[in-house]
Amino acid sequence: MDVAAPALSPGATANPQSPPHRAGPCAFVIFGASGDLTKRLLVPALYNLAAARLLPDEFAVIGVARGELTDDAFRSRMREALREFATGSVSTEVVRDLTARFSYLRGDFDNPDTYRALSEKLGAAMRTGGNCLFYLATPPNVFGVVAQQLAEAGLLREEEGRWRRLVLEKPFGTDLESARELDRRLLDLMGENQIYRIDHYLGKETVQNIMVLRFANGLFEPLWNRDHIEHVQITVTETLSVENRGKFYDQTGALRDMVPNHLFQLLALTAMEPPAHFEADPVRSEKAKAVQAIRPLTPDDVCANVVRAQYRAGTIGNQRIRAYREEPGVDRNSMTETYVAMRLDIDNWRWAGVPFYLRTGKALGARRTEIAIRFKAAPFALFRRTPVERLAQNLLVLRIQPDEGASLQFNAKTPGPEICIGGVRMDFKYADYFEAAPNTGYETLIYDCMIGDATLFQRADNIESGWRVVQPILDAWREGRDCADLTWYAGGSEGPQAAEDLLARDGRAWRKIG
Ligand code: BG6
Repeated sequence: MDVAAPALSPGATANPQSPPHRAGPCAFVIFGASGDLTKRLLVPALYNLAAARLLPDEFAVIGVARGELTDDAFRSRMREALREFATGSVSTEVVRDLTARFSYLRGDFDNPDTYRALSEKLGAAMRTGGNCLFYLATPPNVFGVVAQQLAEAGLLREEEGRWRRLVLEKPFGTDLESARELDRRLLDLMGENQIYRIDHYLGKETVQNIMVLRFANGLFEPLWNRDHIEHVQITVTETLSVENRGKFYDQTGALRDMVPNHLFQLLALTAMEPPAHFEADPVRSEKAKAVQAIRPLTPDDVCANVVRAQYRAGTIGNQRIRAYREEPGVDRNSMTETYVAMRLDIDNWRWAGVPFYLRTGKALGARRTEIAIRFKAAPFALFRRTPVERLAQNLLVLRIQPDEGASLQFNAKTPGPEICIGGVRMDFKYADYFEAAPNTGYETLIYDCMIGDATLFQRADNIESGWRVVQPILDAWREGRDCADLTWYAGGSEGPQAAEDLLARDGRAWRKIG
């Protein structure tokens, strides 16, 4: 993971750091090479890495899937994928050079023959130094099988200086027990240092920037605690409905899909203590500690502090959307939540008494991912014409997407002979300062896997601590406690009334998303 040089003013940089270097020789094996993830994200990301000259000269991509396909047909499909999904203009030369390194292996994931053939192919794969990244772009139910077969074929053995790494993506289990079971299974076969668990939120520049903002500035950290912060709101709202994922989503719901992973990443980066070093283990340990300090929810807490809701028909922009229960693949009587909001408390010295409110949902009025930090009000009313309760509270908003940036709201004197006060805002937009090449969000993650930097990846304890927090919610919902009833919101709205009530009870309100 490389952090850009600090910009002084739009366009001006100081102390430019040396650009990242090419990754070392390796092979990149994609299980599930005919799937969506491969064509929409992995191959476009590999292209961007190739165009930025970050891939090694000694590099091979082997796609593994069930369908019958020749090497040439696979290459041509991947060229097509690039035409459709590349994030910017595409150089024919780079595409030619990249896809020339692609080959295809037909095979069933549970058949040892597939792995024997893979082993031979890897042996023949030029000078990749025996280093290999196995990327599981597969449904999660085959993670265990593929890992087991790789291990039995000896493909996970690291010897004679070569490395072998396994990359997988959420969902890591569907609850605490299944997550632990998956970890046990994987850790029986390989070392933790060989496992790269991706949470794609950590590939977002603005998510990585939370740490830089906190720990590379002297300004914020002294205020970053219960003495100065009143509460924190973490929002991840989408306008997307469940699209063609109805069947998967109906068994998953917003809580499992978003909270223990993406929302807890944002929470952990906001709440963590400064790590001793900016290296994988210290960073991941501090993040795990922050999530472990979340106060466990009792069944009564779930009733009082967690809201779940499902969208009904509505209008987003000027487009009508059907109710969730009418979506293809969704049960007509589904009780699955497409929205969840909650209040969490973090029991440690830094955050005692500072509530963290989290919300996420689909088919809402706007797409917005942000962390809003509300500071305590000035302690007394110095200015008689503006009582302290009428002062705007200081608010720091970290905008993750869209319109990436940060803003700080504070009070200023409005012009005129009398002291009157109004809220104003200082705004930083990424796009004004940095020219970021369009990217898929996977480039840094893939590159980091290749160079063996696990800072942006989840360790087993990070995953388990997330599930430990949400497990009581899953349990209370499963037990069907009355107070944990599903509520409703119109598609395209701000969300359910119950979420507004959750904050109103504490004398607060959500920021508007629209
Ligand atoms: C995925 C979820 O992990 O994240 C999706 O499964 C969700 O349901 C997506 O839409 C959101 O990601 P992003 O990058 O669009 O905020």
